[in-house]
Amino acid sequence: MKRILSAIQPTGEIHFGNYFGAVQNWVKLQDEFQCVYGVVDYHAMTMPYSPSKLRENTWDLIFSLLALGIKPENLFIQSLVPEHTELGWIFNCFCSYGELSRMTQFKDKSDQVKEGDKDAFISAGLFDYPVLQAADILIYKADFVPVGKDQEQHLELARNIATRFNNTVGKEYFVLPEAMFSEALKVRSLADPTKKMSKSLGEKHYISIFEEEKSLRKKVGSAVTDAGDEQERGIMSPGIENLFIMLKAGGKEELHRHMMEIYKDPASKLSYKDLKEAVSDTLVDLTSNFAEKRKELNANKKEIKNQIKESAANIRKIAQETLKEVKELSGLQNVRF
Ligand code: TYM
Repeated sequence: MKRILSAIQPTGEIHFGNYFGAVQNWVKLQDEFQCVYGVVDYHAMTMPYSPSKLRENTWDLIFSLLALGIKPENLFIQSLVPEHTELGWIFNCFCSYGELSRMTQFKDKSDQVKEGDKDAFISAGLFDYPVLQAADILIYKADFVPVGKDQEQHLELARNIATRFNNTVGKEYFVLPEAMFSEALKVRSLADPTKKMSKSLGEKHYISIFEEEKSLRKKVGSAVTDAGDEQERGIMSPGIENLFIMLKAGGKEELHRHMMEIYKDPASKLSYKDLKEAVSDTLVDLTSNFAEKRKELNANKKEIKNQIKESAANIRKIAQETLKEVKELSGLQNVRF
C-alpha cells in the first residue's frame, strides 16, 4: 500500500483554506492509502509564539482533526517523534543556503513579522524550517504528500534533498515524494482575495471551521467581489472565483454548475447576493456537523489523548527505523538500546 504523509501547524484555529486545500482530502485518502498525519509543533516555534499556548493549540488541533474525520491511529504530534529533528539536522548538510534563500514563504513570513517593527526578531528556525519539513516527509518514505499549492516549493526542496542524499550515499534509498493537490488549490482571503486565506492576515480574512453561524454569514456576506461589470466582460474576479471554489468544495456540485451557467450566460446576470447566500448555507451545514462531532469528542478527552500518544508511539517506530538506516548510510554512529 502506498504511503501518504502530510502535516499542519498548531498555530490557532483551523480554517476553510486548510480544510478545502488539504484536510478534506486527507480524510478521503484514508480509505485508499496508509496515511500518516502530523500536528507539527516544532514548526509552530518558528514564528513568535507563546509556550503555554503552543501545548493548548496542539491538543486543540488534534481534537479538530478528529472531528473532521481523521482517524486517531493515523495521527501523531511531532514532538512525540523527536527523530524528525535529528534527521532535520542531517538534511541541513544536504541542503544549500542558496536553496533556502529562494523559499518564498520565508520572505512572506519574515515580512509579516517585521510589519509593525522592522527590527523584529526573525529566527534561524524560520529560515531553516523547510529542511525539517523535508525530514517530516522523508522519514516516513512517503509516496504522496497532499498539500495546498502554497507548499509546492517546499515539496520540490524535499525531492532535491532526497536526490542529493541518494547521490552522496550511492544508493536509491529515498523514494522521491510527489505532491498531491486537491481541486481547491488555493482558497483566498475573503477581505483581500488577492491573498491566500490565512489566520495571520486577521479575523475578517478567514472562516474557522468552528465559526459561529452569525459571524460566518457576516464574513461571507461582506466578502470582496467586484462591481458586477466583470461578469459582463466575461472576466472572473478572484473574489467570485473564491466563492465558486468554496461552493464546489463544500459538496454543492449541482448548484455550482447551475450558478456558473447563469454567470457565464451573457443574456443573464448572477446575483452575487444569491451566490453568497448559497456559500453561507453550504458552510453553515459543514460547520454545524463539525461542531456536533467536536462536542462528542470533548466528552472523552483523557481517553482520546492517551489514544493519540499510543498512535504517536506506533508511528515513531517507522521514523526510528529510517533514522537508523540513514545514520548507517551517512557514516554516523547508532545508539544501541
Ligand atoms: P499550514 O499549517 O500552513 O497549512 C496546513 C495545510 O493547509 C494548506 N493550506 C491551504 N490550502 C489552500 N488554500 C489556503 N488558503 C491554504 N492555507 C493552508 C497548506 O497547503 C497545508 O497543506 N509547512 C506546512 C506544514 C508542514 C507539512 C510538513 C506539510 C510541516 N511539515 C510535511 C506537508 C508535509 C505548513 O505550514 O502548513
